[in-house]
Amino acid sequence: MRAERGNTFFIHTFGCQMNQADTGIISAFLQEEGYCLATNEADAGIILLNTCAVRENAVDRIEHFLRHLYGQKKRDKKLIVGVAGCIPQYRREEMFSLYPAIDFLAGPDTYRTIPSLVEQVRSGGKLASLEFNSAETYEGVEPVRQSAISAFVPVMRGCNNMCAYCVVPFTRGRERSQPFSSVIKEVRTLAAAGYREMTLLGQNVNSYRDMESGSDFADLLDAVSQEAPEVRIRFTTSHPKDISESLVTTIAARPNICNSIHLPVQSGSSRMLGLMNRGHSIAEYREKIALIRSILPDVGLSTDIIAGFCGEKEEDHQATLELLADIRFDSAYMFFYSTRPGTLAEKTLEDDVPEPVKKRRLQEIIDLQNRISGELFQEAIGTVVEVLAESESRRSSEQLMGRTAGNRAVVFDRECYKPGDLLNVLITSATSATLTGRPAQV
Ligand code: SAH
Ligand code: SF4
Ligand code: F3S
Repeated sequence: MRAERGNTFFIHTFGCQMNQADTGIISAFLQEEGYCLATNEADAGIILLNTCAVRENAVDRIEHFLRHLYGQKKRDKKLIVGVAGCIPQYRREEMFSLYPAIDFLAGPDTYRTIPSLVEQVRSGGKLASLEFNSAETYEGVEPVRQSAISAFVPVMRGCNNMCAYCVVPFTRGRERSQPFSSVIKEVRTLAAAGYREMTLLGQNVNSYRDMESGSDFADLLDAVSQEAPEVRIRFTTSHPKDISESLVTTIAARPNICNSIHLPVQSGSSRMLGLMNRGHSIAEYREKIALIRSILPDVGLSTDIIAGFCGEKEEDHQATLELLADIRFDSAYMFFYSTRPGTLAEKTLEDDVPEPVKKRRLQEIIDLQNRISGELFQEAIGTVVEVLAESESRRSSEQLMGRTAGNRAVVFDRECYKPGDLLNVLITSATSATLTGRPAQV
């Protein structure tokens, strides 16, 4: 039977990997009630935006999208538009007056209600379902997955840290962990279905606790890697103040846990880390990096940096450049600060770094990091690396794209290989973001 357009949906996903995982959960709830996933937006009678509120430009992009959808709704009176995720959770009902395209709102803890919201919208009116529910983990829900090779496995949701700049605790609520047994069950199912890579997700995975046994994240990671010994295991995000030696030794002990850690530092200045409420100093961060590298000499390290946070002086900025030059991360996500309504910084600090200064500092950070990544990637030329092929390369169907265990992107000649294969690649050239090579016999 061909699905009627009114019963088909399409979801645009913005933001982090947790939002990507949530899109799979929302899709599962809608499919359970008989709705069909459309292959493109034009075929869908229900359009959902799963949104991100972390920076102002993320919100601007979504506003732009909603204006475009308003035009579309004027032409197509039956079209239903829903907004899920982090923006509605803190902007709440004011969203309806700001963006007339919207029919319903749902927050990260209320995705179970989405099919009934769609039904109710059909009988008229605009609806919001935005309660926090710190018991909601979506345990046992089988998400609709985007890839047959790589899967996200959320292990905890929410965040109890109060980093001064960050809106996430206000959009995702209190921390809660998925039961140990349910994570293991999901991993077993995914391994049996042929998945080659799993990424355990949480805003702050090191806060993971199994309510029943008290097991921590290192215990979970160890058990997951033993349950699926042929599958690459990754995880994100770790908080520098919480990452433990036992976690690092677990990574070293288990060959299928990728040698890769994302450890956001935000700034190279301890004074700024204090204002940001990060709960550690730069000396402590450097100690953690030294500990990680002493146990995992080949680890791929990446980080996040915010340029121009409240009160940042030129010397703080210089300290960030120094830290990047010393540690030599493989890669970094770099942003300039934007105030987020409701955060500690918005309430108690002054956003006093002028925008041109923020942008200039960010550019200096990006230039330095690109140079470092370029140098590190050049050093890889001539080496043989193990790559999990993920997809066809964007540039040519004759090439595949994949990643090393350290999370470096590699483009290589396809030859007889296909996505999902694990193979050795000889690196022949490099830019600051990608390694290029050909399959190697070793
Ligand atoms: N839970 C993760 C991700 C948080 S959001 C973590 O703790 O690392 C991802 C990144 O966005 C943050 O690490 C930070 O670098 C950046 N970010 C968060 N709020 C921001 C803001 N108001 N302005 C600019 N960047 C911000
Ligand atoms: Fe935001 Fe900090 Fe929580 Fe990360 S740890 S989500 S930056 S409050
Ligand atoms: Fe954005 Fe929400 Fe993720 S604010 S970064 S989508 S937790």
